[in-house]
Amino acid sequence: MPNAPAYPRTRLRRIRRTAWLRRLVAEKTVSVDDLIWPVFVINGENRREAVPSMPGVDRLSIDLLAAEVVEARDLGIPAIALFPYTDEALKTPNAEEAYNPDNMVCRAVRAIKAAVPEIGVICDVALDPFNSDGHDGLVRDGQILNDESVEILVKQAVVQADAGCDVIAPSDMMDGRVGAIRDGLDVAGHQDVAVLSYAAKYASGFYGPFRDAVGSSGALKGDKKTYQMNPANSEEALREVALDIAEGADMVMVKPGLPYLDVVRLVKQEFGLPTFVYNVSGEYAMLRGAGDAGWLDYDKVLIETLQAFKRAGADAILTYAAKDAARLLTAA
Ligand code: PBG
Repeated sequence: MPNAPAYPRTRLRRIRRTAWLRRLVAEKTVSVDDLIWPVFVINGENRREAVPSMPGVDRLSIDLLAAEVVEARDLGIPAIALFPYTDEALKTPNAEEAYNPDNMVCRAVRAIKAAVPEIGVICDVALDPFNSDGHDGLVRDGQILNDESVEILVKQAVVQADAGCDVIAPSDMMDGRVGAIRDGLDVAGHQDVAVLSYAAKYASGFYGPFRDAVGSSGALKGDKKTYQMNPANSEEALREVALDIAEGADMVMVKPGLPYLDVVRLVKQEFGLPTFVYNVSGEYAMLRGAGDAGWLDYDKVLIETLQAFKRAGADAILTYAAKDAARLLTAA
């Protein structure tokens, strides 16, 4: 930092005096180009179900979803991330539905790619929507198995890529899954399908509304602390990210977002590769809930939150408020 002369020669308010100057000196700005919209898919036709803990968010059947994705594209949103609400009858201890080439996620990918080929489609890789135990990996005698789970995650990634998914996003936090998925995709001829690794994913209470949305909260036995990270740690986050990069991740993610801005900053500074942040369900619920109650100005705190992610160093942001934000950012 150069030595600025002291007040009264330096008056920082000078550069804040007018809107046009504030725009010119803005350091980090958020735009619609930074947004990824996570969506929840349900079976059936013409079905829309509200998620009570996420006001304004609906689970949609594939036909309605395709129409909403057209809207997202028209708003300029570059990509969506798909999450399935799986019927209980399809959940098994070995999560076979995860790699059924005709499962709901694969059908949704095909429908969306047919309807809106120019929007990016990101698929989550983890077993929790398909596993009767609600865990991201296979469970045996109360233990979450690592290597056995990775084998299934690879099969899941390959059927998603076969369906036309552009980006595979493993959110399971098993060790070694990024390298295994990269190899599996390459062997299947999917060299151009990218891997966005949920590299630093914390065992967080902020996922509660998401688990309601995908219907896994009832199934989940225990917690995810043996695979998701301890909120106390940030150096370990750098080790997680370093390993995922070494295994071939194209992009990495930090999750949740707001309580982990320091981790976003560290990861971006240390590695410099595309760093995404997940503004998770509980963060959305806080802002939206307080907004609905009249306690906060939702539009203002939403844009301020997204700006905070950019300031911390995030390149892109997964947010349930992507459409609201896109409208606000393009109206401004
Ligand atoms: C699970 C998964 C979770 C989220 C995305 N993928 C929840 C969890 O780990 O229990 C959370 C997203 C959110 O809260 O918005 N594979």
